[in-house]
Amino acid sequence: MNDERQIRNLALVGFMGTGKSSVGRLVADVLHFTFLDTDDVIEARAGCSIREIFDQHGEATFREWERRIVQELTRRNRTVIATGGGLPANEANLASLKSHALVICLWASPEKILERVRGLSHRPMLNDPDPLARIRELLAQREPFYRQADVLVNTEMRSPREVAQQVLHQFHIAQAAQPRHPAS
Ligand code: S3P
Repeated sequence: MNDERQIRNLALVGFMGTGKSSVGRLVADVLHFTFLDTDDVIEARAGCSIREIFDQHGEATFREWERRIVQELTRRNRTVIATGGGLPANEANLASLKSHALVICLWASPEKILERVRGLSHRPMLNDPDPLARIRELLAQREPFYRQADVLVNTEMRSPREVAQQVLHQFHIAQAAQPRHPAS
């Protein structure tokens, strides 16, 4: 592992419906870390839902909010960060997360993702007559970014609790590999 990196935090990236928030909460509980969801922070600051931000201001404004939060995250310690699905699809965001966090990508197939997000109308990126095709298209665009995560965890056949165990295992390995900057 690069000596310049300080693994003080844990960042969960990955597509919508891969369980970043539920897994993140479980992991934060075990580690006694603070849990932070970038979507929640944006909604709290904007005073409206993500769907409303997309409808009223457009995706570019939402991505700018994300970019600003990523910069602020560099000051955090002992935090589990669940990111919006599109946040790491930006080199600068990903590089910034990697400077202070172990970045773990949660993965699932397009079919599984559809099964998990079906009926949830609050995700503007999937507002499409053919959501499966849209998921495939977005996944293909984002895969090169997701693959740059430190660790890829397949969530396909696993419960959030099982995924959380995998994530914790990887985090402990990463911490052990950098004895000069322990996160706890
Ligand atoms: C988005 C994913 C959402 C949210 C926004 C855009 C995306 O977060 O940030 O709707 O572009 O994939 P989740 O991945 O937490 O659903």
